Amino acid sequence: MSANVAIPSDMVEAIRDARHLCVLTGAGISAESGVPTFRDAHTGLWSQYRPQDLATADAFLRDPELVWRWYHWRQNLIAKAEPNPAHLALARLEAMVPRLTLITQNVDGLHQRAGSTEVTEFHGNIFVNRCFIEGLEIECDKDTAVPTCPACGGLARPGVVWFGETIPEVALDTALTAARDCDFFLSIGTSSLVYPAAGLADLAREAGAVVAEINSQTTDLACSYNFAIQAQAGVALPALVNSLLGHRAAL
Ligand code: OAD
Repeated sequence: MSANVAIPSDMVEAIRDARHLCVLTGAGISAESGVPTFRDAHTGLWSQYRPQDLATADAFLRDPELVWRWYHWRQNLIAKAEPNPAHLALARLEAMVPRLTLITQNVDGLHQRAGSTEVTEFHGNIFVNRCFIEGLEIECDKDTAVPTCPACGGLARPGVVWFGETIPEVALDTALTAARDCDFFLSIGTSSLVYPAAGLADLAREAGAVVAEINSQTTDLACSYNFAIQAQAGVALPALVNSLLGHRAAL
């Protein structure tokens, strides 16, 4: 992949003029940090594991130890990962536009570690634990194979959104409001196959926003975007920031 991605000047201008930039990120933005995506062929988690065995409430109740083993493995992997140039560029971008709403489907916390503030975690956070019964956030023993809730003694679960579950209300409200309000919507490193996140770009476009994607592969929605940049996020986002600063992309 080329290390020199040209960002179209009309896209740079539209972002420069934007009153409110709404950014949606997916697993692809953390791929260069060594965090596996879900649907990339061969390397994606869902090419090796079945979501119905690991990422549903039924699967958890059937075999909480198996599910926790998988989440502990992912927690350890993510804890060793570092934010990459894409996360860092997005954190810089926040200070360059009047308003930026960052919505992430990722549960890895890498945006926050890169310095982004007010990140809306659409699918929760892998380092948060919740009581399976009451849903409340809890502290529990990280070294236990199947942690329990210190208050009620019931099962603790990872604080992520599983298939068949609803998006946390505040996160959904924030995302819908931002998509309707923004004048530029930028989708980064997501296959745009999982709703409701995948519907946000359409919502923004219908409300009059310019819509763009940065993805290492073209997605099914690319043809409906104003701009579709096929590049690694860790290359394209620093190039975008450089362009906004008026610099030529680094050669
Ligand atoms: P996917 O794995 O579905 O898609 C990742 C996207 O990132 C793909 O379109 C890749 O082409 C792209 N990609 C890979 N590496 C990239 C890079 N270096 N730069 C830019 N793009 C790159 O991940 P998501 O769309 O995030 O949900 O998946 C959405 C949801 O499905 C996840 O939040 C998760 C999953 O099941 C839950 O767990 C609820």
